[in-house]
Amino acid sequence: MIDFLGDLKRTVYCGDLRKKDDGREVTLLGWVQRRRDLGGLIFIELRDRQGIVQVVFNPEVNSESHEKAQSLRNEYVIGVQGRVVLRPAGTANPKLRTGEIEILAKELKILNVAKTPPFPIEDEAEIAEETRLKYRYLDLRRPGLQQNLILRHQVAKEVRNYFDRLGFLEVETPMLFKSTPEGARDFLVPSRLNPGNFYALPQSPQLLKQILMVSGFDRYFQIVRCFRDEDLRSDRQPEFTQIDVEMSFVTVQDIRETMEGLMAHIFKEVLGITLEIPFPVLAYDEAMSRYGIDKPDIRFGMELKDVTEPLRNSPFNVFRDVIETRGIIKAINVKGGGSFSRKEIEDLTHVVQNLGAKGLISAKVGPNAWQSSIQKFITEEEIHAVNDTLNAVENDLLLFVAGSPKLVNQSLANLRLYLGEKLGLIPKDRYQFVWILDFPLLEYDETEGRFIAVHHPFTAPKDEDILKLKNDPASVKAKAYDLVLNGSEIGGGSIRNHLREVQSLLFEQLGMDEQEAKERFGFLLEALEYGTPPHGGIAFGFDRLIMILSHSESIRDVIAFPKTQKGTCLMTDAPSRVDPKQLDELWIKIKEIKV
Ligand code: AMO
Repeated sequence: MIDFLGDLKRTVYCGDLRKKDDGREVTLLGWVQRRRDLGGLIFIELRDRQGIVQVVFNPEVNSESHEKAQSLRNEYVIGVQGRVVLRPAGTANPKLRTGEIEILAKELKILNVAKTPPFPIEDEAEIAEETRLKYRYLDLRRPGLQQNLILRHQVAKEVRNYFDRLGFLEVETPMLFKSTPEGARDFLVPSRLNPGNFYALPQSPQLLKQILMVSGFDRYFQIVRCFRDEDLRSDRQPEFTQIDVEMSFVTVQDIRETMEGLMAHIFKEVLGITLEIPFPVLAYDEAMSRYGIDKPDIRFGMELKDVTEPLRNSPFNVFRDVIETRGIIKAINVKGGGSFSRKEIEDLTHVVQNLGAKGLISAKVGPNAWQSSIQKFITEEEIHAVNDTLNAVENDLLLFVAGSPKLVNQSLANLRLYLGEKLGLIPKDRYQFVWILDFPLLEYDETEGRFIAVHHPFTAPKDEDILKLKNDPASVKAKAYDLVLNGSEIGGGSIRNHLREVQSLLFEQLGMDEQEAKERFGFLLEALEYGTPPHGGIAFGFDRLIMILSHSESIRDVIAFPKTQKGTCLMTDAPSRVDPKQLDELWIKIKEIKV
């Protein structure tokens, strides 16, 4: 028998009740977490988004409700009226925040029944992610995910408070737009009214926020959805949310300060943590040299050292070949790693090989010599020089990778992180921010055979480098910055090109002729001719930030309805085939798909 809701109204959330509520009459609405029938008494754990509380049905209090409670099963939706009482001595449950009290039930309404769920609604349960995503509505009932979404809401609220206080305006920008290059493929949307033409879902509101500066809005922000068709990882989704910001008449320093203020505000208001500002700064070149990556986790050391010089004359053919082809040799020092087993070192070799390195050379540091496969190719002098560079002492383990700078940095950066985890060197409760500055503006892309923008094509060169843009583009540094938190790139931005000539020259260096630049970004180039103020901005990966604040392993745990690694929604089966009539209306024909 299902009861009507009638005028039943919740007076308090289950999870909010505490000892101080002793004696209070309450009405609770929620889901049955568990039922235990102890003959005389029936105990229900009742759950809502705030938590769980124990409800007791005693036949002597209300025999009708007690009888009804016998039919309750997990996930039934019920309403309970009763009184908060302290639990009898010795029966408190320290695992529950409400564990010192329970509800003595008087009335029970069964508002709906439920099939047995395919998995238990609790955080501890190990459930295949596929099943969780298919039954996302049940997965989202689990306390951990509910807390993540509550945290997400709180952070969004504080972002708005902070920017509002500083006079920023939140302006919405369209989802049906034109290609906005941020380095990924676009998601295209066909236009029925303009056969053969497509909108692109924005990879970010980059161009529109710049246009808003041209229009004089001065201080803009938006919590906004962005779309990128790229290969997915544990911190990437095809649609994700940015905290997007743009400001006029600012320097890099102004933007950094405003954003440090934002982070400090969020951490204070949401987590009660006081951040130390300003954040430390690393130049891009230094980050690459010391950590091999432009988003270093600086919560621990084990920095990379270049040992090309001391090994320059080594007869070891791997080193010789690498040095001859303008490669480098870098190494890290695993303190006390002399005790690593052969198997452990083999595992480390796999880590670097997975990233394309040919191999990993290891050396255990002894009192006078190394224990290493390359021992016989190394002179005592070289050993000393390398030991010095790496601050190596007896019983340390030195790990070398040789190859192109890109490959060496990538593989050692990953190895460093792997070892940091394995050896427990990363203080997990620390929030370590670092700004990365002085990025190159352009990098040469071998496959494309041209320069591409390291950030995006609207980033300004440093003032002192503008003249080099024409003849020595590779050496030009950008007015760009990334904010890194615990080894994750949570935001990035730049000062933009507000002078049309500079923007046109940059397009040229990116291999775009005047015609192409006009077709793709004509509106921007034109806008730049109507009094564009100097401006710049930044965007934060909102989901990534929440991931770190909630200590989540996957970005999918901070998004209500995320996509799988393959970009699908398992709950709704999107993307899916559509009615041929819909395609006809869009003038689209599907080619034969060979799988
Ligand atoms: P950028 O491309 O660096 O900059 O993006 C800003 C931040 O967004 C996050 N991010 C993502 N998060 C989840 N899934 C993804 N697929 C994804 N891609 C990016 C990252 C990143 O730091 N318009 C510029 C900003 C600017 O110049 O103002 C931009 O979008 O945390």
